[in-house]
Amino acid sequence: MTQDTTGFIHRFEPGPDTTRPLMLLHGTGGDENDLLPLGRMVAPEAALLAPRGGVSENGMPRFFRRLAEGVFDEADLRRRTGDLAAFVAASRARYGLGAPLALGFSNGANIAASLLMLRPETLTGAVLIRPMVPFAEPPAADLAGRPVLILSGAMDPIVPVENARRLAQQLSASGARVEHRILPAGHGLSQADVSQALAWLRSLPGPEAA
Ligand code: MLT
Repeated sequence: MTQDTTGFIHRFEPGPDTTRPLMLLHGTGGDENDLLPLGRMVAPEAALLAPRGGVSENGMPRFFRRLAEGVFDEADLRRRTGDLAAFVAASRARYGLGAPLALGFSNGANIAASLLMLRPETLTGAVLIRPMVPFAEPPAADLAGRPVLILSGAMDPIVPVENARRLAQQLSASGARVEHRILPAGHGLSQADVSQALAWLRSLPGPEAA
């Protein structure tokens, strides 16, 4: 566990591929350790960067505040998206990394979507597992050609598929190359998420061609 000047407790796992590291963003109640095994499975060569969300909701770490389940404190989300972008910049300098691709689950997927919208230069793309629309009014962003994989659960009790479709449309309208797949799953991670993310990441061109 390491804490840096940007205040994020995090784990860094080196890998031979430092040109396109994977940034792992956990769900509510998770931490920096949760997604490291998943990251290693879907990107065996990549350096892995995993911060812990700085908000505590009754002791459960999150990346931003919410007013109720699925109702976000958008001012806090904006501020913390900036903090996460600063963490990425500091980590790139510290560990000698290229711009990361984010892999986020649930609350982590939601701040990854916010990063794409507010600070598009921070990420080369994203795997968003069970995300939802982060802002009532989507900020204008230029995501020209950025690859984004959205994995939704057909039986997800927290995120209606229609909401994830809206996010896919918003990101596509900003120029991202979005693939949205609806899996026979609920809100939790499933084996299908692992195999879909692995195959999609393998299909991407290298960062220099992206
Ligand atoms: C959120 O708060 O980001 C979403 O409701 C997903 C969750 O973390 O449960």
